[in-house]
Amino acid sequence: MNESNLISLIRQMTLDEKISQLMQLSTPFYEGAESEGQITGPMEAMGITDDMIHNSGSVLGLSGAKEVIQVQEAHLKKNRLGIPLLVMADIIHGYRTIFPITLGLSCSWDMELAEKSAEIAAAEASAAGVHVTYAPMVDLVRDPRWGRVMESTGEDPYLNSQYARAFVRGFQGKDLTNDHSRVAACVKHFAAYGAAEGGRDYNTVDMSAWQLREMYLPAYKAALDEGCQMVMAAFNTVDGIPATGNKRLLKGLLREEWGFDGVLISDWGAVKELIPHGVAADLKEAAYKAMQAGIDIEMMTSAYVHHLKQLIEEEHIHEAQIDEAVLRILKLKQTLGLFDNPTRGASVEQEQLIIMSDLHRAAVRDAAAKSCVLLKNDSVLPLKAEQKIALIGPFAQNGDILGPWSWQGSKEEAVQLFDGMITVSDPENIRISQGCGIETGTEAELEAAVAAAKNADVIVLALGEDSLMSGEAGCRADIQLPRIQLELIAKLKPLGKPMVAVLFNGRPLDLHGVYDQVDAVLEAWYPGTEGGIAIAELLYGKRNPSAKLTMSFPYVTGQIPVYYNHYRTGRPQGAPDAQVRYVSQYLDIPNEPLFPFGYGLSYTTFDYSEARISSGTMSVNKPLTIQVRVTNTGSMAGEEIVQLYVRDLVGDVVRPVKELKDFRKITLAPGESQEITFELTEKQLRYHHHDLQYTSDPGDFIAYVGTSSIEVQELKFTLTKESE
Ligand code: BGC
Repeated sequence: MNESNLISLIRQMTLDEKISQLMQLSTPFYEGAESEGQITGPMEAMGITDDMIHNSGSVLGLSGAKEVIQVQEAHLKKNRLGIPLLVMADIIHGYRTIFPITLGLSCSWDMELAEKSAEIAAAEASAAGVHVTYAPMVDLVRDPRWGRVMESTGEDPYLNSQYARAFVRGFQGKDLTNDHSRVAACVKHFAAYGAAEGGRDYNTVDMSAWQLREMYLPAYKAALDEGCQMVMAAFNTVDGIPATGNKRLLKGLLREEWGFDGVLISDWGAVKELIPHGVAADLKEAAYKAMQAGIDIEMMTSAYVHHLKQLIEEEHIHEAQIDEAVLRILKLKQTLGLFDNPTRGASVEQEQLIIMSDLHRAAVRDAAAKSCVLLKNDSVLPLKAEQKIALIGPFAQNGDILGPWSWQGSKEEAVQLFDGMITVSDPENIRISQGCGIETGTEAELEAAVAAAKNADVIVLALGEDSLMSGEAGCRADIQLPRIQLELIAKLKPLGKPMVAVLFNGRPLDLHGVYDQVDAVLEAWYPGTEGGIAIAELLYGKRNPSAKLTMSFPYVTGQIPVYYNHYRTGRPQGAPDAQVRYVSQYLDIPNEPLFPFGYGLSYTTFDYSEARISSGTMSVNKPLTIQVRVTNTGSMAGEEIVQLYVRDLVGDVVRPVKELKDFRKITLAPGESQEITFELTEKQLRYHHHDLQYTSDPGDFIAYVGTSSIEVQELKFTLTKESE
């Protein structure tokens, strides 16, 4: 079908049929679904009729080839014009073979890996009948109290943009129409959902247009530049108006300024939520505002199906607006090849062949090993196979390592830490004691752990958060480990044994009571299906940790938000002429985070030569090169992530103290060295001025090269006006 066929199809549709295309409900509403009928009560309460379901355009949360085929076939029988349903679901970091949570994966700084992870997730999901995933989530984050930081790629707009592109490439491939092992991507949550006040989910977001453009928007734009098919509007307000009803944001910025012409979907229930937000008096006004703002698909509420017709009759809305929305949805169906093949990739045989295949398991294992960040190591890691280990803590034998967004992943199929460790070491050498639960425990359990650890050479503590302590609606005001786990550490400390903490969690934590008590800390995040093996391989030195943080770990909760690319104040701490008191600082803690962006250790050591810059001046036509030689000076092969930052010393508006501009991930054998060359251009120095113009200014800059955002060498240069 081409566009004119689609337009003539729309001409054959009744207004009711068109409006129902814009409705998206979940699986139990659908004939042929295994959970069908469970929703009868809510269906009546929402006033959803069978006709509305038969005419609807898409379904949420449906998967499994057999079930998808059943639902699609039943739907096509009932839909007068034979328009197939779009099947959408949250495939975030894997379908059933689960990759590390996105925040973990982002610590790999590996775009090929990110792309591959999305490709594998897409292959499994499309075999299971899914057409669209609500991913990537590219919200910039600065507040680890917010549970959804686990879905993000961290605090840097450049890195977020690179990941946004990589995930879109991986999900969508190059030809969605013919390559049915890929799914359409839906970038979310537009916009700035990650800036919820106080780190409380769904809360108000309020920031200047300048800040929005400078930090928060680039990653959404990058996803669209990569061809992302859909956008999901965020729950939060932007400039005082919830995104779902925000015409300036959706019509003005997204559609008109950026030219996005794909499908725009609300978040779950968000159209109706315009009422509790207090910007719509009733469902009719909510429908009006969402339609005026440009929402094509209303997810999980029924404002459109109940009120759009009347709004058209009353001439508040033009039927042409509905036609446009329907056309976008039909175009997406066409792009996915659904008119020719309504069940698309869904195949029971293919599901059996690829889901949880050895190849996919190997890929998630590799990704897990590349995502764990070694935060501390006082000569205790790697462990030796012959050492007697006391494996203690609530995650010693726990399958809750997939994270809160692993819908089809099964905890029972996840490789737990103990099971991973015995693939590397003799089971005889490992003694287990849970010590306590995640949030509760008894004195007797703590004592049992102490007894189990008495004869050990090393104590490995497997600690963390229950996966529901992060993710959507998983916010915490105090982001230390639950108190009982800190007590467990304190109980074991007097034994005087070397202690290693392995952490399973969905956010940067306040690690007081952990990092200061133990000898080594490995941040494992929720590492996914093969987590136990990947961690064991790292602990025993079969692999070398290489990941670096993409989100700062705060010194304490009260320091939040803390992020590396902050601005200077008029009274910066540590300036040569700074006063003792009247500077921007806390009296009781440092300004710096506990572990900064870009930080992560290895078992080997890397030496950086003196960095060189090709010239002291740059102009539009004369980029600079910055070079540094990195040598592996240790005795183990390792990967290093070499980072390039820039600071603009004087701007039209305040400028970050550092901004990531580029990085290289390299692998070096012991003794090997590599020359790294970064090119830096005038384009990379552009930023949003007070009038939102995006340009650079002549003047002085500092380039920083190094192993983290704080361990760097400085090189000065000047940007000149003349274009030589
Ligand atoms: C979340 C989205 C998700 C949607 C559909 C919402 O509650 O905010 O990220 O895609 O549900 O499951």
